[in-house]
Amino acid sequence: MTSGGMPSIPSSISPPPVSLPLRNIPGSYGLPLLGSIGDRLDYYWFQGPDKFFRTRMEKNRSTVFRTNVPPSFPFISADPRVVAVLDCKSFAHLFDMEIVEKNNVLVGDFMPSISFTGNMRVCAYLDTSEPNHSKVKNFITDILRRSSRIWISELESNLSTMWDGIELEMAKNKQSGFRNFLQPALFNFFSKTLAGADTAKSPEVAKSGYIDVIIWLGLQLVPTIHIGVLQPLEEIFLHSFRLPFFPIASRYQRLYDFFQKEGAEVVERGVTEFGLTKEEAIHNLIFTMGFNAYGGFSLFFPVLLDRILNDKTGLQQRILKEVRSKSSSGLTFESVKEMDLIYSIVYETLRLDPPVPSQYARARKDFKLTSYNSTYNIKKGELLCGYQPLVMRDPEVFDEPEAFNPDRFRGEKGAALLDYLFWSNGPQTGTPSEKNKQCAGKDLVVLTGVVFVAYIFKRYDSIAGEGGSITAFQRAN
Ligand code: HEM
Repeated sequence: MTSGGMPSIPSSISPPPVSLPLRNIPGSYGLPLLGSIGDRLDYYWFQGPDKFFRTRMEKNRSTVFRTNVPPSFPFISADPRVVAVLDCKSFAHLFDMEIVEKNNVLVGDFMPSISFTGNMRVCAYLDTSEPNHSKVKNFITDILRRSSRIWISELESNLSTMWDGIELEMAKNKQSGFRNFLQPALFNFFSKTLAGADTAKSPEVAKSGYIDVIIWLGLQLVPTIHIGVLQPLEEIFLHSFRLPFFPIASRYQRLYDFFQKEGAEVVERGVTEFGLTKEEAIHNLIFTMGFNAYGGFSLFFPVLLDRILNDKTGLQQRILKEVRSKSSSGLTFESVKEMDLIYSIVYETLRLDPPVPSQYARARKDFKLTSYNSTYNIKKGELLCGYQPLVMRDPEVFDEPEAFNPDRFRGEKGAALLDYLFWSNGPQTGTPSEKNKQCAGKDLVVLTGVVFVAYIFKRYDSIAGEGGSITAFQRAN
């Protein structure tokens, strides 16, 4: 591993760079404006992101190529031109902070208005060269370290409320939506563990805080999201301009007041121990809690559950056996660590369905980008774009890359693959720090996924469902 967290690709899949020919980057941005409009329509309407990247990769016969990525013209001023990097080796350049920078490029050249975050740029938009990045990243890392004490007990308690609710609804309707119960549970869980703020102390926040965050997230991100059902209305109204903050302003203020009051101790530490202003501590807390944690898990858990519900190979029986044999003393950091089948399932889900599919970084200086067969000149200022769902299907690294293999990450060979699991904007074997832009929650995200699955199979012998609903379960005796 280099200091920037870039994995050293083993020589078995990576010949030394000196022997590789220098090639021009294939692909083009097309005619001014028209090229970006065509790509935008393909991305959002005619193809969707997966096919968009796949067809261009095939057409250019290269995993590295030039293309436009929306949002862009006419009313959004973001520059859509990127160099796509779609294999593990070229993608890993995104982690080397000596050659790339991440100033305002969380979602490409597009950036939502900073009014959503108290008129300041929060951690995810800061480059590692900015002093505030270190302060906030260390603050969040400290929060996570301290909250690990109550992490599993709070998670179990919120999962218990969630599944009680699902069971009650099933008793009435024979089936129950999963998300309706998941989202309040996640909101309560992260408020408590990250900010020390108990939603029970504020009935209004308890009732609608989780919905407020969804609206706040949607208004920021909708211009970048392929929905694919409302065309051409989607193109005209959702992808053509940045959406305003005012519809959610008063609700955001309510969240701010809630974290200021109920999270006072954590906020105070941000000020006294990490040198942040009170406002910086609170807005970063809301962003980490709402955008990173709540947003990430709202996408990740439904997919993780679906992977288990859709399995036809007897996976539930195998999970059940592992959970029952390893958790006689309850779910603890120690007992969970031994659940290597569930760990592997969580990793495999993060590989095939990375919750944050696109990652961006801008060249800090001119450098040579290396793929398996070629090197390419990248100029300072060019934007690199990695689309993880394809990168994580790199056949040079993963056998049968399209298949969901619950055992893929087990054993010695499986552990070696963790160098190439990139969902956190860094390898799973990397260490998030102030020097890089890797997800601060990397290890706890995986652990939380494992506890989520283990909890289900402590509570149930089997469970069934489809399309986001639970349709049957067998309670454990
Ligand atoms: C399933 C859940 C999660 C997913 C999928 C996820 C994914 C990511 C990704 C991909 C990034 C890098 C974004 C970029 O720069 O391109 C990131 C950054 C970050 N994540 Fe997570 N995350 C999750 C949960 C969490 C949690 C629970 C926390 C902490 C409480 C957290 C804290 C952060 C922070 C602070 C950053 C910014 C890092 C920096 O700027 O250096 N994330 N996350």
